[in-house]
Amino acid sequence: MTISGQLGGFPVPESLAVTCSKTEERTRWLEGLPQLVRGLALRWELELGAPFTDDVTCSWVAPATRRDGTPAILKVGMPHFEGEHEIDAMLFWNGDPTALVYEADREHGAMLLERCVPGTMLRTLPEPEQDVVMADVLRRLWRKPPESHPFRPLAAMCANWRQETLDARDRWVDPGMHREALQLFADLPASAPEELLLATDLHAGNVLRSERLPWLVIDPKPFVGDPAYDATQHLLNCAERLAADPIGLVRRFADLLEIDEERVRLWTFARLAAECDDYWPWSDRLQIARTLAL
Ligand SMILES: Nc1ncnc2c1ncn2[C@@H]1O[C@H](COP(=O)(O)OP(=O)(O)O)[C@@H](O)[C@H]1O
Ligand SMILES: [Mg+2]
Repeated sequence: MTISGQLGGFPVPESLAVTCSKTEERTRWLEGLPQLVRGLALRWELELGAPFTDDVTCSWVAPATRRDGTPAILKVGMPHFEGEHEIDAMLFWNGDPTALVYEADREHGAMLLERCVPGTMLRTLPEPEQDVVMADVLRRLWRKPPESHPFRPLAAMCANWRQETLDARDRWVDPGMHREALQLFADLPASAPEELLLATDLHAGNVLRSERLPWLVIDPKPFVGDPAYDATQHLLNCAERLAADPIGLVRRFADLLEIDEERVRLWTFARLAAECDDYWPWSDRLQIARTLAL
């Protein structure tokens, strides 16, 4: 990935510039970013490095050094639906098993985080090893939020997806299966055995090697709901293994997570069958979904 040359020399990763060009609100956010970053660096007394350019589509993230020499990371998030309350969630988990928050500015979606060193991504490990670490961090993350909390229910995210899937009705390949998935998006949140704080999008690119704990989580998209949902993102990222043995992989991961295999199977089916984007070939996706539906 490259750095885009716009904004008078302020470095913007190309992938972030592309995401921001899609709406007027984001274009305006990007235009204000140089001033915002300069202000934060002054207020929090930071020496900033060049921003990360890989894996950044929704935020501006750069290594920073605090006045006392502590290595840190400055993250400024673009306003987006899933990312709301990321700061609240990082403060709730308070370093276990997440990167610590040194400073936060909710109004501007900015955080100064503990830097994970060496910061190697979990996805550099073989997938079966990833399963074990991922299960460990997910189980640590799943905690009951306090009575009064700002987080949205998982049902709200599911309702959003239901609507997106309905809007893409002309692209449905197997209408019966799409309808079944839509029904599950309504039923599964309602029958959750417990309601815990979830990371929802946790994949092996957002779990980084660290020293304080062997692995730390960054970049959560917090919602409150059924922990079985949180198993799906990692499973969907292990596409080849999932295609080779869908039931076996779901069972293995549910066992590692010590949660109900049946609910993981249903959530994984629902996600595979309901989504209408093109990130996976349809034939593979339908085949796996059909096996999981049996
Ligand atoms: N606490 C951290 N320690 C080390 N590197 C980090 C940290 N937070 C973010 N990064 C780096 O910045 C990249 C983007 O951060 P991330 O929070 O995942 O942003 P995005 O929301 O755009 O995905 C990560 O892939 C990682 O390389
Ligand atoms: Mg990320």
